[in-house]
Amino acid sequence: MTTSSAPGKVYLFGEHAVVYGEPAVPCAIERRARVSVEPRDDHRVRVESDDLTLDGFTVEWGGPADEHHDVDVPSNLVEAATGYVDEALSQARDAIGDPEAGFDVTIESDIPLGGGLGSSAAVVVAAIDAAVRASGETIEPEELADRAYQAESTVQGGEASRADTYCSAMGGAVRVEGDDTRPIEAPELPLVIGYDGGAGDTGELVAGVRALKEEYGFAADTVETIGDLTREGEQLLAAADPDGDPGPVLLEELGDLMDFNHGLLSALGVSSRSLDRMVWTAREADATGAKLTGAGGGGCIVALDEGQATRRALEYSPGCDQTFRAELATEGVRAEE
Ligand code: MEV
Repeated sequence: MTTSSAPGKVYLFGEHAVVYGEPAVPCAIERRARVSVEPRDDHRVRVESDDLTLDGFTVEWGGPADEHHDVDVPSNLVEAATGYVDEALSQARDAIGDPEAGFDVTIESDIPLGGGLGSSAAVVVAAIDAAVRASGETIEPEELADRAYQAESTVQGGEASRADTYCSAMGGAVRVEGDDTRPIEAPELPLVIGYDGGAGDTGELVAGVRALKEEYGFAADTVETIGDLTREGEQLLAAADPDGDPGPVLLEELGDLMDFNHGLLSALGVSSRSLDRMVWTAREADATGAKLTGAGGGGCIVALDEGQATRRALEYSPGCDQTFRAELATEGVRAEE
């Protein structure tokens, strides 16, 4: 059994706009997906997971040539999850040069599925890495990030940025603008997550923003403004001491930009009542700023608060299912024992 793990992430700034070539700054967090892979003697694939924040499911399918996947649980999220695994394994087969390779795959994840914390990217990154290593080969993080991006893009109907997959493969804070991907320095920020227990369908939400842009040409200005505020946020992070305390001024300034970013995402139609409610709960507690993270439609918000007030307020907020503090994950994909 060969096991790899990869972290989830939050977006400090820039989701959705990054799909249109604007910059985004996601940051990996210490919540991981672990994927174990055992090569099979035949060309079949068996995937087991009882830990994707959904009911347990077991999927068996016949390998690359089969068109039909036998998925027991009639949930579009489970189908999306198996779609991501399927595409990840296609990439792994391509990387090892064996289009018929079969695998037994076990997935465990403590990242809520579809909740905006990069669960699919983490599963895809860890699955490709584990499948390639289980086949006796190695893969460099840059190639892994690129293959994971190809897999995500296919599942999302060709509309994905490199942000989630690059961040999960590399760890730390990163900057993505089109094909330009690089790690950046950032201080440890006091990130508080609120999770409404729900999920959004990334493909649908991304398509919704495209439809809005097509119907109202001026929505492009909203996307560009997200790009501008992301550049501003990057400058703030670049000026901070990466090993020091971020300090109250930086937290206020970053928080203001996060609030601004949330408002613009809301204008693009990707927020939801529960995300807005959690954002306001966080702001009315002690957060210096709060925004949805990821595709939206339900799932998680990220807030900045050094103290306990935001977590306490979210704990008692009716729309919030879970709240936790997220630590920056400096390590991206890694081999597990
Ligand atoms: C989803 O986590 C982030 C989006 O920007 C889509 C993408 O970048 O592929 C909404």
